[in-house]
Amino acid sequence: MSPNHMDSLSSRIQQVTPSLTLSVTNQAKALREQGEEVYGLAGGEPDRDTPQFIKDAAIAALQDGKTKYTPATGVPELKAAIAQKLATENGLNYSADQICVTSGGKQACYNAILAVVEEGDEVIIPAPYWVSYPEMVRLAGGVPVIVETQESNKWKITADQFEEAMSPRTKMIILNTPGNPTGIVYSAEELKSIGEVATYEDIIILSDEIYEKLVYGETTHTSIGSLDEEIANLTVTVGGFSKAYAMTGWRLGYTAAPKEIAEAIAKIQGHTSSNATSFAQYGAIAALEEAGNAFIDEMRAEYDVRRQFMLGKLREINNISVVEPQGAFYFLVNCTQLGISSVNLCDKLLSRYKVAAVPGIAFGHDKSIRLSYCTDFEVLNEGITRFEEFCQSH
Ligand SMILES: Cc1ncc(COP(=O)(O)O)c(C=O)c1O
Repeated sequence: MSPNHMDSLSSRIQQVTPSLTLSVTNQAKALREQGEEVYGLAGGEPDRDTPQFIKDAAIAALQDGKTKYTPATGVPELKAAIAQKLATENGLNYSADQICVTSGGKQACYNAILAVVEEGDEVIIPAPYWVSYPEMVRLAGGVPVIVETQESNKWKITADQFEEAMSPRTKMIILNTPGNPTGIVYSAEELKSIGEVATYEDIIILSDEIYEKLVYGETTHTSIGSLDEEIANLTVTVGGFSKAYAMTGWRLGYTAAPKEIAEAIAKIQGHTSSNATSFAQYGAIAALEEAGNAFIDEMRAEYDVRRQFMLGKLREINNISVVEPQGAFYFLVNCTQLGISSVNLCDKLLSRYKVAAVPGIAFGHDKSIRLSYCTDFEVLNEGITRFEEFCQSH
């Protein structure tokens, strides 16, 4: 009999749950392998391929022998290009040595948390939240403090709620704008009032801006670190290439942080993964050039059409509710009136209606499900029609 290793596992890892978003994708995949047609509204990545000019830059780097270790925090040209982008597009003043290129936005968030969170430190996380934040905090030995936001306030944490959730152990707050799973985008005023509370109490802000390029209509993206110097001194900005340039498989993101935190992040990365893939970094340099903007504009326009289509369809269903998302590529659908748990709901939706969605419990909101529109129009149309039938049958 093989030994049971449960006793050997660290207490930190035993507190952590596997990623539910990945598990839904796997279930849908298994059904497809059995020959079933599945309408996938559970995805978390652009349904496009990486633009050719980005691939070409990486291929050229590979051919050119850029196959060795790079500095742990990234090649200087890429760090300079990121610093330049943050200055011109986001109004953020970071020098290249405050940037750390990481293997995806995920690693960027985790590095930032590991750099500042001590055993027992509390980290405020507004719910619904991106699935990995609480688990990252636990892995770092910290304590996630979940603050439930209200649909009536468009799923945004207020400065008052932030203040109420604080304790002497509060070390960090995690903000995500545009947000996953809600698609909400904080305004400059909202961020300013949250930032003021943070500066008053010296709370580090982890600002995850991975969806910054996907904002629709009149909405604009604001980086909290651009609002004033005091806020900037407490902010670690996370960005990445996955969502904006359809580069999820490349694993490229970055942190931009105040000097001491940037040095700590560099140490962590130096002792764990070292640099993000060398030739991939050259692809990222190309992405930040002018042609990258044309790709983003085109993708954003297409996603906006899908977003509006889906909003119209969802608003016709009378026993659910949605807040209009202004960014990312998700809808958080409030299914309270259907009266079943989100896991149960998604199981039924998948097994009976062949529609894949992500249960809200993964995001700390068990009364909802997440539907994404990073899929083609036919799938979207059929998926949402089937979802409507499902809702009508309840
Ligand atoms: C809010 C948020 N942050 C970070 C990430 C991680 O991105 P990456 O694929 O670059 O690691 C994701 C990916 O889904 C996300 O939704």
